[in-house]
Amino acid sequence: MSHYQVVKGARDIFPDEMVQWKHVEDVMHWLARIYGFSEIRTPVFEYTELFQRSIGSATDIVGKEMFTFFPDGSGRSITLRPEMTAGVMRAALQKNLLASAPVQKLYYISELFRKERPQAGRQRQFSQFGAELLGASSPAAVAEVIMFMMHVFDELGLSGLRLRINSLGSIDDRRRYREALRAYLAPHYDRLDDASRERFEKNPLRILDSKNPDMQEIVAGAPRLHEHLGDEARRDFDLVLGYLSGRGIDYRIDHLLVRGLDYYSYTAFEVTSTALGAQDALGGGGRYDSLALELGSPKEVPAAGFAVGMERLLIAMQKQGLLPEAVPAGPEVCIIVPQQEFFDQAFALAARLRDEGISTAIDLAGRSMKAQLREAGRMRAASALFVGGDELSSGMFPLKDLDASFQETLPLEGAIARMRERSITKQDQP
Ligand code: HAM
Repeated sequence: MSHYQVVKGARDIFPDEMVQWKHVEDVMHWLARIYGFSEIRTPVFEYTELFQRSIGSATDIVGKEMFTFFPDGSGRSITLRPEMTAGVMRAALQKNLLASAPVQKLYYISELFRKERPQAGRQRQFSQFGAELLGASSPAAVAEVIMFMMHVFDELGLSGLRLRINSLGSIDDRRRYREALRAYLAPHYDRLDDASRERFEKNPLRILDSKNPDMQEIVAGAPRLHEHLGDEARRDFDLVLGYLSGRGIDYRIDHLLVRGLDYYSYTAFEVTSTALGAQDALGGGGRYDSLALELGSPKEVPAAGFAVGMERLLIAMQKQGLLPEAVPAGPEVCIIVPQQEFFDQAFALAARLRDEGISTAIDLAGRSMKAQLREAGRMRAASALFVGGDELSSGMFPLKDLDASFQETLPLEGAIARMRERSITKQDQP
């Protein structure tokens, strides 16, 4: 048995695929700047109670999917983060970030861990690009978060997206609704599946978005959450929708959308893609004003955010032919050493070119000149510079343009100038 198997539900991203990730990440970093969000990184693990208190003990994530351990054999339990929102809020509260500026706009591209059954688009280690706006949750703040997310999809060229949106109302609205829903479901209790029975007491709203057709049939006759919304929630939701329409963002109101995390109130949303299979949720988010209080903050922190699954985003882009070719950029020059006795001098020359800011490759495996040239082609080097005994004594070096198969012999300074010119022309190309 080999000992080099990646863990089930995790995957490697090799340099060729990294080119595509970088393309996507560059757009995210650029748009984050345009929208005024700053990058944050938090630890991959947190004390377990952070997630229990924020995501909610009755959710699938906390109940079944967390990688939890005791680092010292006892003491406080630690969990690999299954999402970022709780950690970002924890960091902001601990550092008292909102004292320095009352609105904090943060974003991240980070790895997360959930012990789910792996399948296409669902992994145990995955990444999210997300944003959290802390200190404001006005309709404009919520709309801005959604606009930012949709702008990223748009800039990446994705089509076939559906934005579903709902208002979960205030905490009081939801409490009243939960009671009404339980009263409706109670006579159907015997027909509920195991998962729904589990949710009946703790979190009956989650039964609303069950994928089981039998549950959907029962739910079809249930009282509607939107009928239990107070005036404030209705007004707030209308304003959010108005901003989205004003910006030309298509959405569909989905009264059954509740999302799998407990910290939301008022607006919640989710984006699905027709390019994805069973796991078609590309991203989601919403407003979460009470999260800070749940974590013990003396003051409420109004907040809203979203997260997009990076792997799913890349799958959708791949399906729609939106990813650049998976080929890492080659070096500007590959030094060819015809005789190994001159290797050390050629190696010193490579260091000098690198000091000049020229991306330089040199064979480190003592291969023949033919093999070195083949490798230069494989790496897509722009030029080859021949460094042998004659060249070193005369100070004149043959420089071959590998794209144009054109060769000239130049003093080192001239060769450097030529390589620079070439890389500038290359960068100017679209
Ligand atoms: P979430 O809906 O749990 O929300 O996750 C957001 C996205 O992460 C999903 O739509 C999906 O694309 C991706 N995702 C989730 N689980 C997996 C998995 N096992 N494998 C691959 N991709 C996955 C949140 O995490 C919230 N923190 C979003 C948020 C931010 N709400 C407010 N701010």
